[in-house]
Amino acid sequence: AKLSVRDALGAQNTSGERVKVQGWIRSVRSQKEVLFLHINDGSSLESLQVVADSSFDSKELAFGSSVEVQGQLVKSPSKRQNVELKAEKIEVVGNCDAKDSGFVHIHTPIITSNDCEGAGELFQVEPSSKVKVPEENFFNVPAFLTVSGQLHLEVMSGAFTQVFTFGPTFRAENSQSRRHLAEFYMVEAEISFVESLQDLMQVMERLFKTATMLVLSNCPEDVELCHRFIAPGQKDRLEHMLKNNFLIISYTEAVEILKQASQNFTFTPEWGVDLHTEHEKFLVKHCGNIPVFVVNYPLALKPFYMRDNEDGPQHTVAAVDLLVPGVGELFGGSLREERYHFLEQRLARSGLTEAYQWYLDLRRFGSVPHGGFGMGFERYLQCILGIDNIKDVIPFPRFTHSCLL
Ligand code: 4AD
Ligand code: MG
Repeated sequence: AKLSVRDALGAQNTSGERVKVQGWIRSVRSQKEVLFLHINDGSSLESLQVVADSSFDSKELAFGSSVEVQGQLVKSPSKRQNVELKAEKIEVVGNCDAKDSGFVHIHTPIITSNDCEGAGELFQVEPSSKVKVPEENFFNVPAFLTVSGQLHLEVMSGAFTQVFTFGPTFRAENSQSRRHLAEFYMVEAEISFVESLQDLMQVMERLFKTATMLVLSNCPEDVELCHRFIAPGQKDRLEHMLKNNFLIISYTEAVEILKQASQNFTFTPEWGVDLHTEHEKFLVKHCGNIPVFVVNYPLALKPFYMRDNEDGPQHTVAAVDLLVPGVGELFGGSLREERYHFLEQRLARSGLTEAYQWYLDLRRFGSVPHGGFGMGFERYLQCILGIDNIKDVIPFPRFTHSCLL
């Protein structure tokens, strides 16, 4: 019988009834001859103790992994619980690499006074005209819906080293494309002591692959339905992405590749100009439909916070975008400019010195090399499900001229 953790804990029959319990590993205690696991599926405050002999591979059975345990429910010799599950078979449903679990979840604000991306694509927040505000301005400074939680994460990565946030972000982009929304969700991570794009790309690739494997193992029917009715062949395309190592090319190489094929494009590819969706999609096809990281973009194209590569006339920054089949850009990230004087100059050139004193202070007191990225959640769904238009992955899409209910 398949039991929830709650039902297993409350079982009356503890004379060795064979059951199956699914859940997440809450703790692992490994002794010479036995392995104790505590698993929970959210049905109970208390976790179920699983006792396994040493033949089980304890490396796979890590904190946070999801497992399906088959075995016998028996009376526990310990006073701490009545029942325990003697494991005969443990199947790991989804791995949880111990390195990943070090990320602390931060709630970053939705209302903010900063324009992280510096693109001016902001929705301004003001009280409605019915509200009586004592001073002329509610927050004393102009306030906006956030375009990214990055700058707040940078503050918190200085306390916890590895942090992430998952929340709504807003962009007033006047774009009617198949991959832009005015309101979308973003997963963002920020990591202290990261010194190379290589390190960052490893985390991005693992996030994509781990999340996708979890979706495939936790909701196979839903994925199957989408793949069957909306995107035939998508299952194979997705497996192709999962089993190959993602590729890496520089922006400069990307432009060279595009120039060779310029007859295919509406917009002429050129060094110093941003990649268009059509360019990104072409690059992914060119790479055999394997996701590809494009690194080191021109400094002039990117926001003030990206780290200067100091590489001469073709001046670039340590930026990285991950391009994926069907969508193009899915992740955007970079190493951050952690050097005080470099950042000071960049801010001055953008006229931001006054507003970003607090950000400069992060470089003044115990600055560390760090970096991070953001992944658009709706674009992620588009990519794994094979859905052509971003407006079809959520029930209430917001875009230009569309905010009816
Ligand atoms: O490349 P972006 O603008 O990067 C940032 O905002 C960084 N501050 C993130 C960070 O480093 N913490 O946005 C990140 C991702 C894009 O790659 C894309 O997937 C998604 O957010 N995105 C959008 N998705 C839907 N509609 C839009 N208008 C989007 N704009 C960006
Ligand atoms: Mg971007």
